[in-house]
Amino acid sequence: MDTIDQIAAQPEDAEKDSSVPAVAVEDLHKSFGTQRVLNGISLTVKRGETLAVLGRSGTGKSVLLRLIIGLQNPDSGSVRIHGQDIAGLALDDLGEIRKKMGFLFQHAALYDSLTVEENVAFPLQHHKQEMSKSEQADRVGKLLEEVGMEGALQKMPSDISGGMQKRVGLARALALEPDILLLDEPTAGLDPISSGEIDDLILKLQAEHHMASVVVTHDLHSAKAIADRLALLNEGKVVIEGSFEELQNSDIEFVREFLKHS
Ligand SMILES: Nc1ncnc2c1ncn2[C@@H]1O[C@H](COP(=O)(O)OP(=O)(O)OP(=O)(O)O)[C@@H](O)[C@H]1O
Ligand SMILES: [Mg+2]
Repeated sequence: MDTIDQIAAQPEDAEKDSSVPAVAVEDLHKSFGTQRVLNGISLTVKRGETLAVLGRSGTGKSVLLRLIIGLQNPDSGSVRIHGQDIAGLALDDLGEIRKKMGFLFQHAALYDSLTVEENVAFPLQHHKQEMSKSEQADRVGKLLEEVGMEGALQKMPSDISGGMQKRVGLARALALEPDILLLDEPTAGLDPISSGEIDDLILKLQAEHHMASVVVTHDLHSAKAIADRLALLNEGKVVIEGSFEELQNSDIEFVREFLKHS
Protein backbone atom coordinates (compact mmCIF):
# COMPACT_ATOMS: atom_id res chain seq x y z
CA MET A 1 0.00 0.00 0.00
CA ASP A 2 1.39 3.40 -0.87
CA THR A 3 1.40 6.34 1.47
CA ILE A 4 -1.62 8.10 -0.03
CA ASP A 5 -3.74 4.98 0.40
CA GLN A 6 -2.61 4.67 3.97
CA ILE A 7 -3.59 8.25 4.73
CA ALA A 8 -6.91 7.85 2.94
CA ALA A 9 -7.68 4.67 4.89
CA GLN A 10 -6.96 6.25 8.24
CA PRO A 11 -10.25 8.01 9.15
CA GLU A 12 -12.43 4.99 8.34
CA ASP A 13 -10.19 2.68 10.32
CA ALA A 14 -10.33 5.11 13.21
CA GLU A 15 -14.14 5.08 13.10
CA LYS A 16 -14.14 1.31 13.56
CA ASP A 17 -11.42 1.40 16.16
CA SER A 18 -13.29 2.11 19.39
CA SER A 19 -10.08 3.04 21.21
CA VAL A 20 -9.90 6.23 19.10
CA PRO A 21 -12.32 8.78 20.59
CA ALA A 22 -14.97 10.07 18.21
CA VAL A 23 -14.31 13.58 19.51
CA ALA A 24 -11.09 14.66 21.19
CA VAL A 25 -10.29 18.28 21.92
CA GLU A 26 -6.97 19.14 23.44
CA ASP A 27 -5.83 22.31 25.14
CA LEU A 28 -8.26 24.52 23.25
CA HIS A 29 -7.80 28.26 23.58
CA LYS A 30 -10.15 30.83 22.12
CA SER A 31 -10.36 34.58 22.69
CA PHE A 32 -12.53 37.26 21.14
CA GLY A 33 -10.50 40.45 21.18
CA THR A 34 -9.26 40.79 24.73
CA GLN A 35 -11.90 38.44 26.12
CA ARG A 36 -10.43 35.04 26.82
CA VAL A 37 -13.26 32.51 26.56
CA LEU A 38 -11.61 29.08 26.43
CA ASN A 39 -8.33 28.73 28.27
CA GLY A 40 -7.09 25.19 27.79
CA ILE A 41 -10.03 22.80 27.39
CA SER A 42 -9.34 19.09 26.89
CA LEU A 43 -12.19 16.57 26.57
CA THR A 44 -12.85 13.28 24.81
CA VAL A 45 -16.01 11.42 23.88
CA LYS A 46 -16.16 7.86 22.62
CA ARG A 47 -18.85 6.22 20.54
CA GLY A 48 -21.80 5.18 22.68
CA GLU A 49 -20.97 7.81 25.24
CA THR A 50 -22.79 11.00 26.21
CA LEU A 51 -20.85 13.87 27.70
CA ALA A 52 -22.79 16.75 29.25
CA VAL A 53 -21.04 20.11 29.23
CA LEU A 54 -22.25 22.36 32.00
CA GLY A 55 -21.41 25.88 33.03
CA ARG A 56 -22.76 29.32 33.69
CA SER A 57 -23.97 31.58 30.92
CA GLY A 58 -21.12 32.99 28.87
CA THR A 59 -18.54 30.36 29.83
CA GLY A 60 -18.03 29.35 26.21
CA LYS A 61 -20.10 26.19 25.92
CA SER A 62 -21.58 27.16 22.56
CA VAL A 63 -18.17 28.35 21.38
CA LEU A 64 -16.76 24.93 22.29
CA LEU A 65 -19.41 23.21 20.14
CA ARG A 66 -18.72 25.57 17.24
CA LEU A 67 -15.01 24.70 17.45
CA ILE A 68 -15.85 20.98 17.44
CA ILE A 69 -17.99 21.41 14.32
CA GLY A 70 -15.27 23.53 12.72
CA LEU A 71 -17.50 26.59 12.31
CA GLN A 72 -14.84 28.58 14.16
CA ASN A 73 -11.13 27.95 14.58
CA PRO A 74 -9.36 27.78 17.93
CA ASP A 75 -6.46 30.16 18.60
CA SER A 76 -4.49 27.09 19.66
CA GLY A 77 -5.11 23.49 20.58
CA SER A 78 -6.63 20.76 18.45
CA VAL A 79 -9.97 19.23 17.54
CA ARG A 80 -9.79 15.62 16.38
CA ILE A 81 -12.78 13.84 14.90
CA HIS A 82 -12.23 10.08 14.75
CA GLY A 83 -8.56 10.81 15.22
CA GLN A 84 -8.34 13.32 12.39
CA ASP A 85 -7.25 16.87 13.19
CA ILE A 86 -9.75 19.18 11.49
CA ALA A 87 -7.42 22.20 11.48
CA GLY A 88 -6.38 23.19 8.00
CA LEU A 89 -8.65 20.67 6.25
CA ALA A 90 -9.89 21.66 2.82
CA LEU A 91 -13.57 22.71 2.90
CA ASP A 92 -14.61 19.55 1.04
CA ASP A 93 -12.89 17.33 3.58
CA LEU A 94 -14.37 19.27 6.48
CA GLY A 95 -17.74 18.93 4.76
CA GLU A 96 -17.32 15.14 4.61
CA ILE A 97 -16.51 15.03 8.32
CA ARG A 98 -19.43 17.30 9.16
CA LYS A 99 -21.86 14.97 7.40
CA LYS A 100 -21.15 12.50 10.18
CA MET A 101 -22.02 15.10 12.80
CA GLY A 102 -25.58 15.97 13.65
CA PHE A 103 -26.13 19.22 15.46
CA LEU A 104 -28.88 21.14 17.12
CA PHE A 105 -28.08 24.80 17.62
CA GLN A 106 -29.04 26.67 20.76
CA HIS A 107 -31.24 29.21 19.00
CA ALA A 108 -32.59 28.68 15.51
CA ALA A 109 -33.37 25.02 15.98
CA LEU A 110 -35.26 25.18 12.66
CA TYR A 111 -35.52 27.27 9.49
CA ASP A 112 -38.56 29.48 10.09
CA SER A 113 -39.65 29.69 6.48
CA LEU A 114 -39.65 25.94 5.82
CA THR A 115 -42.28 23.41 6.90
CA VAL A 116 -41.37 20.69 9.37
CA GLU A 117 -41.05 18.24 6.49
CA GLU A 118 -38.82 20.60 4.48
CA ASN A 119 -36.65 21.26 7.52
CA VAL A 120 -35.92 17.57 8.02
CA ALA A 121 -35.52 16.97 4.28
CA PHE A 122 -32.99 19.83 4.01
CA PRO A 123 -29.82 17.84 4.83
CA LEU A 124 -30.94 15.00 2.55
CA GLN A 125 -31.55 17.37 -0.37
CA HIS A 126 -28.10 18.87 0.08
CA HIS A 127 -26.04 15.79 0.85
CA LYS A 128 -27.98 12.79 -0.46
CA GLN A 129 -28.70 13.75 -4.05
CA GLU A 130 -28.48 10.07 -4.94
CA MET A 131 -31.72 9.48 -3.02
CA SER A 132 -34.91 9.87 -5.05
CA LYS A 133 -37.60 12.29 -3.87
CA SER A 134 -39.74 9.41 -2.66
CA GLU A 135 -36.84 7.81 -0.79
CA GLN A 136 -36.17 11.16 0.85
CA ALA A 137 -39.83 11.53 1.78
CA ASP A 138 -39.82 8.02 3.29
CA ARG A 139 -36.75 8.82 5.31
CA VAL A 140 -38.21 12.13 6.55
CA GLY A 141 -41.37 10.26 7.58
CA LYS A 142 -39.35 7.70 9.54
CA LEU A 143 -37.23 10.37 11.23
CA LEU A 144 -40.31 12.32 12.31
CA GLU A 145 -41.89 9.12 13.56
CA GLU A 146 -38.76 8.40 15.56
CA VAL A 147 -39.14 11.68 17.43
CA GLY A 148 -42.92 11.42 17.75
CA MET A 149 -43.70 14.21 15.28
CA GLU A 150 -45.18 12.26 12.38
CA GLY A 151 -48.39 14.29 12.47
CA ALA A 152 -46.72 17.65 11.89
CA LEU A 153 -45.27 17.32 8.37
CA GLN A 154 -46.94 20.38 6.87
CA LYS A 155 -46.79 22.61 9.94
CA MET A 156 -44.57 25.68 10.12
CA PRO A 157 -42.11 25.92 13.03
CA SER A 158 -44.04 28.89 14.45
CA ASP A 159 -47.16 26.70 14.69
CA ILE A 160 -45.62 24.10 17.00
CA SER A 161 -44.42 24.33 20.61
CA GLY A 162 -40.79 24.81 21.69
CA GLY A 163 -40.53 21.17 22.73
CA MET A 164 -41.89 20.05 19.37
CA GLN A 165 -39.41 22.32 17.58
CA LYS A 166 -36.58 20.65 19.49
CA ARG A 167 -37.93 17.22 18.47
CA VAL A 168 -38.00 18.25 14.83
CA GLY A 169 -34.50 19.72 15.23
CA LEU A 170 -33.37 16.36 16.57
CA ALA A 171 -34.93 14.58 13.60
CA ARG A 172 -33.05 16.93 11.28
CA ALA A 173 -29.82 16.36 13.21
CA LEU A 174 -30.25 12.61 12.66
CA ALA A 175 -31.07 12.85 8.96
CA LEU A 176 -27.60 11.90 7.72
CA GLU A 177 -27.21 9.09 10.28
CA PRO A 178 -24.45 10.84 12.21
CA ASP A 179 -22.11 9.03 14.52
CA ILE A 180 -21.52 12.21 16.50
CA LEU A 181 -24.40 14.24 17.92
CA LEU A 182 -23.89 17.74 19.28
CA LEU A 183 -26.80 19.34 21.10
CA ASP A 184 -26.72 22.88 22.42
CA GLU A 185 -29.28 23.36 25.20
CA PRO A 186 -31.86 20.86 23.91
CA THR A 187 -34.15 21.48 26.90
CA ALA A 188 -33.66 25.23 27.44
CA GLY A 189 -36.89 27.16 27.74
CA LEU A 190 -39.02 24.04 28.10
CA ASP A 191 -41.29 23.20 31.02
CA PRO A 192 -40.12 20.32 33.24
CA ILE A 193 -42.39 17.75 31.61
CA SER A 194 -41.34 18.66 28.06
CA SER A 195 -37.70 18.70 29.22
CA GLY A 196 -38.12 15.22 30.63
CA GLU A 197 -39.63 14.06 27.34
CA ILE A 198 -36.69 15.45 25.39
CA ASP A 199 -34.30 13.73 27.83
CA ASP A 200 -36.12 10.43 27.28
CA LEU A 201 -35.93 10.97 23.54
CA ILE A 202 -32.19 11.67 23.69
CA LEU A 203 -31.69 8.49 25.74
CA LYS A 204 -33.73 6.47 23.25
CA LEU A 205 -31.86 7.89 20.25
CA GLN A 206 -28.54 7.26 21.96
CA ALA A 207 -29.46 3.63 22.71
CA GLU A 208 -30.63 3.05 19.13
CA HIS A 209 -27.88 4.86 17.25
CA HIS A 210 -24.94 4.42 19.58
CA MET A 211 -23.50 7.86 18.80
CA ALA A 212 -20.90 9.90 20.58
CA SER A 213 -22.93 12.76 22.02
CA VAL A 214 -21.97 16.10 23.50
CA VAL A 215 -24.88 17.86 25.15
CA VAL A 216 -24.48 21.41 26.37
CA THR A 217 -26.90 22.25 29.10
CA HIS A 218 -27.63 24.50 32.06
CA ASP A 219 -29.92 21.85 33.36
CA LEU A 220 -28.26 19.62 35.92
CA HIS A 221 -31.33 17.40 36.19
CA SER A 222 -31.23 16.77 32.46
CA ALA A 223 -27.44 16.22 32.50
CA LYS A 224 -27.83 13.63 35.24
CA ALA A 225 -30.54 11.83 33.26
CA ILE A 226 -28.78 11.62 29.91
CA ALA A 227 -25.03 11.76 30.43
CA ASP A 228 -22.40 9.14 31.23
CA ARG A 229 -20.01 11.91 32.21
CA LEU A 230 -20.35 15.56 33.04
CA ALA A 231 -17.81 18.33 32.51
CA LEU A 232 -18.27 21.60 34.34
CA LEU A 233 -16.61 24.64 32.75
CA ASN A 234 -15.64 27.87 34.45
CA GLU A 235 -13.38 30.70 33.41
CA GLY A 236 -12.28 28.86 30.31
CA LYS A 237 -11.28 25.64 32.04
CA VAL A 238 -12.78 22.28 32.93
CA VAL A 239 -13.27 22.57 36.70
CA ILE A 240 -14.27 18.93 37.08
CA GLU A 241 -15.10 16.01 34.83
CA GLY A 242 -16.77 12.85 36.07
CA SER A 243 -20.01 11.10 36.93
CA PHE A 244 -22.85 12.95 38.61
CA GLU A 245 -21.86 11.28 41.89
CA GLU A 246 -18.29 12.48 41.50
CA LEU A 247 -19.55 16.04 41.05
CA GLN A 248 -21.80 15.65 44.08
CA ASN A 249 -18.91 14.43 46.21
CA SER A 250 -16.51 17.12 45.07
CA ASP A 251 -14.88 19.44 47.59
CA ILE A 252 -14.21 22.10 44.96
CA GLU A 253 -15.97 25.27 46.04
CA PHE A 254 -17.18 26.21 42.54
CA VAL A 255 -18.66 22.73 42.01
CA ARG A 256 -20.52 22.87 45.32
CA GLU A 257 -21.87 26.33 44.52
CA PHE A 258 -22.93 25.29 41.02
CA LEU A 259 -24.77 22.21 42.31
CA LYS A 260 -26.41 24.21 45.09
CA HIS A 261 -27.89 26.71 42.65
CA SER A 262 -28.88 24.26 39.92
N1 LIG B 1 -18.31 35.48 17.46
C1 LIG B 1 -18.10 36.07 18.64
N2 LIG B 1 -17.55 37.29 18.75
C2 LIG B 1 -17.31 37.88 19.92
N3 LIG B 1 -17.59 37.31 21.10
C3 LIG B 1 -18.15 36.09 21.08
C4 LIG B 1 -18.42 35.40 19.86
N4 LIG B 1 -18.96 34.20 20.16
C5 LIG B 1 -19.00 34.15 21.52
N5 LIG B 1 -18.54 35.27 22.07
C6 LIG B 1 -18.43 35.53 23.50
O1 LIG B 1 -17.87 34.39 24.11
C7 LIG B 1 -18.46 34.17 25.39
C8 LIG B 1 -18.96 32.76 25.48
O2 LIG B 1 -20.08 32.63 24.64
P1 LIG B 1 -20.94 31.31 24.52
O3 LIG B 1 -22.07 31.63 23.61
O4 LIG B 1 -20.08 30.17 24.13
O5 LIG B 1 -21.43 31.09 26.00
P2 LIG B 1 -22.34 29.92 26.58
O6 LIG B 1 -21.58 29.23 27.65
O7 LIG B 1 -22.86 29.10 25.47
O8 LIG B 1 -23.53 30.76 27.26
P3 LIG B 1 -25.09 30.42 27.37
O9 LIG B 1 -25.20 29.42 28.49
O10 LIG B 1 -25.73 31.72 27.73
O11 LIG B 1 -25.56 29.88 26.06
C9 LIG B 1 -19.55 35.22 25.55
O12 LIG B 1 -19.07 36.26 26.36
C10 LIG B 1 -19.78 35.70 24.14
O13 LIG B 1 -20.20 37.02 24.13
MG1 LIG C 1 -24.67 28.79 24.66
